[in-house]
Amino acid sequence: MTLHASNAAAALLGGLHTFIEPAYIRTDPESCLNYGRDWTRLHTPNPLAVVLPGTIKEVQALAGYANTHQLALVPSGGRTGLSGAAVACQGEIVVSMERMNRILDFDPTDRSVTCEAGVITEVLQNFARDHGLYYPVDFASRGSSQIGGNIATNAGGIKVIRYGLTRDWVTGLKVVTGRGDLLYLNRGLIKNASGYDLRHLFIGSEGTLGIIVEATLKLTRPLREPNVMVLGIPSLDSIMSLYHVFRNKLELSAFEFFSERALRHVLAKGLHRPFETETPYYVLIEFENPGGLHTDTALNLFEHCAEQGWLADGVISQSEAQAQELWRLREDISESISGYQPYKNDIALRISRIPAFLNEADTLLTREYPDFEVLWYGHIGDGNLHINILKPADLDSIAFAKKCGGVSEHLFTALQQYGGSISAEHGVGLLKKPYLHYTRDETEISYLRAIKQAFDPNGILNPGKIFD
Ligand code: MLT
Ligand code: ZN
Repeated sequence: MTLHASNAAAALLGGLHTFIEPAYIRTDPESCLNYGRDWTRLHTPNPLAVVLPGTIKEVQALAGYANTHQLALVPSGGRTGLSGAAVACQGEIVVSMERMNRILDFDPTDRSVTCEAGVITEVLQNFARDHGLYYPVDFASRGSSQIGGNIATNAGGIKVIRYGLTRDWVTGLKVVTGRGDLLYLNRGLIKNASGYDLRHLFIGSEGTLGIIVEATLKLTRPLREPNVMVLGIPSLDSIMSLYHVFRNKLELSAFEFFSERALRHVLAKGLHRPFETETPYYVLIEFENPGGLHTDTALNLFEHCAEQGWLADGVISQSEAQAQELWRLREDISESISGYQPYKNDIALRISRIPAFLNEADTLLTREYPDFEVLWYGHIGDGNLHINILKPADLDSIAFAKKCGGVSEHLFTALQQYGGSISAEHGVGLLKKPYLHYTRDETEISYLRAIKQAFDPNGILNPGKIFD
C-alpha cells in the first residue's frame, strides 16, 4: 500500500521503473517517513516515492522524467539539516544519493579527492587521514551527513575560523541541473579565470538549482597535536577581549562558546564539568601545539586574561582523549536538547558586533519571553551564534511554534540593524523562508529568482525552499 494510491500516482511510479530498478523505488510508509524529513521534525513527510539512483545517467533520467510529468524532486543527503530544506511534504519524489557513495579518485600531488555526492563526511575525513591528509570541514553530524548535502548547504561547523566553509574546499562539481543537463564545473582547478564560476552558485543552493552528483575536494595537512582549552568567562563582554589576545598569539583552529545553561544539558547526559568554578559562559579554544611548543604562550595568555578579570577558571587538555572529552561539552549540546523540540537559530554577524547584539538580544528575550529557557552557544569566532529556545513542557507544539515565530520577528529585526544574516550555516530551507527579506532585499531576491529560472525553468527542484 503506497501513501499515494491513486491511479495517476501509480502510473507515474510505473514510469520510473523504465529507468530505475524497482528495488530502488520505495513507497513503503517507513521509507517515506525517514527519507521525507530532516532533523527539524516539524513537517509531516508525504513524498510520492523515494528513489535511490545509482548513476549520473539515472539522475539525469529522473530530471527528464520530472520535467515531462511536472513532478517535484527533493535532493536528499544525510538529512541532518536543521532548516527543512530536505523535507518532502507535498507529494515530491525524494532523490536519495546514498547509493552514490564511492570515492572515485585521489591524487597526492593535487592533494585532492573526487567522490560521489553520497559519501558520508566522516568516511571522507577518514580516507584523508589514511592518506596522511585532512578534510577540515567538521561538525557533530559528521557520521550521517553527506558531502553532497554539505555542499548544497555550504556547511560550516567547528573549524571555520581556520579552514573556512565547505565552499573553500570544493574545486570541482558535477551537477545535474533542473533542465537535466550535466555540468562539470571548475574541473578540480585551483585557478580558473574563464568567466562566471557557476560552481559557487550551486554551493549553498539547497538543492534548488541542481542535484550535486560528484565533487572534487581539496585536502590539507593534518593539525599537529591540537590542544584544547576550556575557559570559564564571567561576562559576555570579556569573550571578545579574550578572542583578541588568543588569536594574536596562537594559530587557533576553533573558538567556540556556550552558556552555563547549555552546559547543564550535556552534564545531565553524563559528561563532567570541566572544572569546579561555575561561570555564565565558557569558551573552547583549539590550537596547534606540536611538541608542546606553544604551551607556555597559552599559559601566559591564561594568566594575563585572569588578571584582567576576563576569565575565572580554565583547563588545558593533557592528552588527545581529554581534548576529545572537552570537545564533547560543546559538540553534544545540540543532541542533548533534541528532546525539547528546540526553536533553533544560526544567525551570523560581524564578530565585532557580537557583544552589543548579544546583550540586546538577551534583554529582548528575557523581557518578551520570561518563561522560555534560552540557550546560547555557537561558533563565536566566526560570528555565528546558535540561539536555542526549549519548549516548556506545559506548552503544546503548535502554541510554541507560534510564539517562536514572534521570537524570530523580534530577533531578526534587531539582527537587521546590526547588518547580520538570518542563517550562517544551516540554510534557509522552509523554516527561514518567511524571514529571508531581513537579510536579502527584494531586488536581490529577484536576481535569485532569475538564476533559479535559468537552471530550473519548470521548477522541478526542491520547490518552495529558500523562496517561493
Ligand atoms: C552546532 O553548532 O552544534 C550545530 O550547528 C547544531 C545546532 O545548531 O544545534
Ligand atoms: Zn553550528
